[in-house]
Amino acid sequence: MSATYYPKVLAICCRWCSYAGADLAGAMRLQYPPAIRILMVPCTGRVDLLYLLQAFEVGADAVFVSGCHEGDCHYLTGNLQVRKRVERVKKILQEVGLEPERLEMFHISASEGPKFAAVAQEMTARALRLGPNPVKRQMRAAWLAEQAAAHAAA
Ligand code: FES
Repeated sequence: MSATYYPKVLAICCRWCSYAGADLAGAMRLQYPPAIRILMVPCTGRVDLLYLLQAFEVGADAVFVSGCHEGDCHYLTGNLQVRKRVERVKKILQEVGLEPERLEMFHISASEGPKFAAVAQEMTARALRLGPNPVKRQMRAAWLAEQAAAHAAA
């Protein structure tokens, strides 16, 4: 556990499936990290490539998009379209020096509260492992120094 860093993980959830899945996780009293900030959208197909990039620009340490399962999108192909955008943004992240695994796409239905909690834990664990988003320069420098000190002490 870092003294200087606790991640911010943005979860962009479709209102019909994944947002309800997150709600179910809460109703089932399943634990998931407080790092998660949920943004509900009518359909993940509404999520533009620029929104994903802007999330990192303003300091998100990890982002995941969670939509309906294939064939279940209420707007037919929104979830398939955003999956392609997520793949494009992962390539852009890599080109600008950010780890592409900071971004991921999932499909979580309204009845999959435990899956939502597991995904939330997985993305928080990734963000903790990767450290602060480099746009947060001071926090990143402090975290790197902390990591180096811990490595030297080991
Ligand atoms: Fe859920 Fe399109 S309505 S992803």
